[in-house]
Amino acid sequence: MGEMTAVLDELLSDAQLREVIGRFYNRVYADPVFAPIFSGVEQARQEERLFRFVLMTTTVSGTDGVDGQFLRVAHEHLPITDELVARRWQHLADAIRECGHGEGVVAAWDAYDGRWREWVVRPR
Ligand code: HEM
Repeated sequence: MGEMTAVLDELLSDAQLREVIGRFYNRVYADPVFAPIFSGVEQARQEERLFRFVLMTTTVSGTDGVDGQFLRVAHEHLPITDELVARRWQHLADAIRECGHGEGVVAAWDAYDGRWREWVVRPR
């Protein structure tokens, strides 16, 4: 656990993290599948919240349960399926590559992201 959290942290500066997150949400908000889901959520505010969440959870380890519960509550009202999680990840991976980062960063973020996927999917 400590391993993968350290990796994302060490690979990207705060400014690079913000750039990836900005491009990621540009893609999400332009996607007709996600647009209606995010219609009531201001993009800049959403970017800031994800940025802070990543910072908090990459520098602090051992709080996955607490942070997972937080994410579960934040997504409880949303009809999130494995397919939506995969679609979201595609936008994130594309955004990372668009920013010029290599496959090491993609893999590190995939591992980081994997810590949260089960918490946001609505139980079926
Ligand atoms: C690994 C997967 C995911 C992570 C790490 C993640 C992360 C986050 C974070 C940190 C927030 C802000 C929570 C807050 O500060 O209150 C958030 C909100 C949100 N997420 Fe996700 N998310 C994930 C998956 C998804 C998926 C698949 C969807 C698809 C619909 C989604 C839709 C939303 C929406 C609509 C909000 C805003 C909720 C609101 O303000 O009412 N998320 N997410």
